[in-house]
Amino acid sequence: MGDATKLSGRTALITGAARRVGRHLAGALAAAGARVVVHYRESADEARSLQAAIENAGGEAALVAGDLTDDAVMENLIARAAEPFGPLDILINNASQFAPGCVLETTLSEWRRYQSVHAEAPFVLSREFTRQRPEGRDAVIVNLNDWRAGRPGPDHFAYTMSKVTLHGLTRSLAQALGPHGVRVNELALGAVLPPEGGEDGYLHTLREEIPTRRFPTLDDVAAALIFIVGTESINGETVHVDGGRHQV
Ligand SMILES: NC(=O)c1ccc[n+]([C@@H]2O[C@H](COP(=O)([O-])OP(=O)(O)OC[C@H]3O[C@@H](n4cnc5c(N)ncnc54)[C@H](OP(=O)(O)O)[C@@H]3O)[C@@H](O)[C@H]2O)c1
Repeated sequence: MGDATKLSGRTALITGAARRVGRHLAGALAAAGARVVVHYRESADEARSLQAAIENAGGEAALVAGDLTDDAVMENLIARAAEPFGPLDILINNASQFAPGCVLETTLSEWRRYQSVHAEAPFVLSREFTRQRPEGRDAVIVNLNDWRAGRPGPDHFAYTMSKVTLHGLTRSLAQALGPHGVRVNELALGAVLPPEGGEDGYLHTLREEIPTRRFPTLDDVAAALIFIVGTESINGETVHVDGGRHQV
């Protein structure tokens, strides 16, 4: 899709990218010319097949693994990801977990696990990314968020609250890191892929609730990502890729 040299010479780390949305975005970054470091937790086979697919298409990819609820993994991931190709220019915080649950059923440890993956890891990775960014050229962070972060309801309680934190983090870091040459933006998605193990969350968002009556596609998300990454004046922005669902 698009210009195969748009991101040439730049290196991206994308978390949780062996499968699903992240896999598609890693492919799009590589197709735009970026070297891609694919982070995964458990999906080693899928990560290796993604690396092979990128390399077979003429791109460059490397792998880095770790559980982002582990403090040591968070603290060291950027340094490890910068080993194969040198300093990182692009950080995509994509890793996620998603499950229903109301406040009365949510344990403190579940709350902390969601905050860990969706807020603490993006915070620590953003800090370390900024410390190592190459001087004198555009650096950018894109957080994968959910339209629910701007309109939190009672459903998917721990997930949504952690994504609300991520929304605030995006806005705060855009101001804090801008002077350091780092832009921070987020993509707020509607239902793109149903959660694994069932289609509950997907079907929960009825097509009729989407103003366009159309679910966003993986290509829509990738196009929005490449637009943000490639546009040097976009900072502190939330781009909704949800057919207008957040307005209903
Ligand atoms: N899918 C949608 O329709 C949708 C809708 C709205 C927003 N979003 C957002 O878009 C992003 C991608 O969505 P998705 O559905 O593709 O995500 P996902 O399948 O729920 O998760 C992506 C990956 O995150 C990794 N991960 C989970 N817990 C981790 C941990 N503790 N440490 C490290 N990695 C961990 C897993 O890697 P391994 O498999 O390697 O373990 C998983 O494959 C997410 O941020 C999500 O919130 C998606």
